[in-house]
Amino acid sequence: MTPPDPPLSPRVPFNDLGRSALTDTLRAAVEEVIAAGDFIHGRAVNAFERQFAAHNGAAHCVGTSSGTSALQCALAAVGCGPGDEVVTVSATFVATAAAIVHTGAAPVFADIDPATRTIRPDQVRAAISARTRAIVPVHLYGHPADPGELAAIGAEYGIPVVADASHAHGATWEGRPAAQYADVSCFSFYPSKNLGAIGDAGALVTDDPDIARRARALRDHGRQDGEVVTVGHNWRMDTLQAAALGAKLPHLDEWIASRQRAADGYRRLLADTGLALPAGSAEAGHAYHLYVVRHPERDALRAELARHGVDARVHYPRAVHDLAPFRAFRTAPEGLPETEALARQCLSLPLFPGLTGEDIHTVAQAVRAALRTVGGRATASTDPADGTVPAHPHRPTATARN
Ligand SMILES: Cc1ncc(COP(=O)(O)O)c(C=O)c1O
Repeated sequence: MTPPDPPLSPRVPFNDLGRSALTDTLRAAVEEVIAAGDFIHGRAVNAFERQFAAHNGAAHCVGTSSGTSALQCALAAVGCGPGDEVVTVSATFVATAAAIVHTGAAPVFADIDPATRTIRPDQVRAAISARTRAIVPVHLYGHPADPGELAAIGAEYGIPVVADASHAHGATWEGRPAAQYADVSCFSFYPSKNLGAIGDAGALVTDDPDIARRARALRDHGRQDGEVVTVGHNWRMDTLQAAALGAKLPHLDEWIASRQRAADGYRRLLADTGLALPAGSAEAGHAYHLYVVRHPERDALRAELARHGVDARVHYPRAVHDLAPFRAFRTAPEGLPETEALARQCLSLPLFPGLTGEDIHTVAQAVRAALRTVGGRATASTDPADGTVPAHPHRPTATARN
């Protein structure tokens, strides 16, 4: 019997953190913390919080142990609890909805705009009830979820907007950091994110001093000025992670630019394939955490790409409302057809800082070859293939800008 072929290492990996590793810089930052011995609430935490608040144009940043704890902390700080509802999306990583459920509130899932893949403001309005305590949009894949319109809805109903910006470090809206529009924005620094730690970490940013004060107490066993003022948690950011993040943050803008150049390359090389490419609103500075195309035969396309040495991934194969622990929760009245279509069709192409022009050409050639095998031109979904946004009742037509 012939032995099976050894696994091929892909010619283009899905991600290669080594190409932006800054190993020596990180080693120096970590050694400094070890020498100082201030592992908890260390100076590097305060320094990173100041740096990251400034990067987002926000007054306050509260470092946390992960993106999930940042979300939970932010939701608790705006008062979410048992009996409340939180309007959010199902097209996201499960942690968004889990954080809501852990506060005792119930997520209510609204559908997405198929072009931007983010929450539809008209669906948010339709989902709001007397029990709604927060709106949690997700800047999925790095495209801001209409921050201007959601801030207007939040102000109209008196409901805070707590954005899940885990994919969107460096994303802008109308030229300003997207975080400036939400009451609170929450970030994950999971290592593969646009700004990644060397382990788990997260943060929330806000302009509201009361939210920041409550969040600081909640993340540190409920302590404030020497008193225990609430039943808190241990959601603190590790000083070692803060030191690493502080060393990496000055590179974030150049890494975002590298992601945007790669996305431009894909758009140029794939525009005539019929594949549904990411589109953006005119106001959006897309941070391209992920470059997600759509195809009705997604799994076959992915397998073909693997045969051609390209490692593509799926974010996320199941919408959250379709996962067993979340099936009991309510959805917006029109259901979630666009969310479900995205889960069936989405495919993330390799995209990371340091992806070369040659890599991009290799991926594009592999996509063309794969499309010939899996059924030619894709007529996936309602996405346009040319990078433009279709007319929607709630927003004028616009052309992509990154
Ligand atoms: C959209 C989204 N929200 C929340 C999280 C949770 O972040 P963390 O893994 O840092 O807890 C992630 C992480 O992958 C994410 O992608």
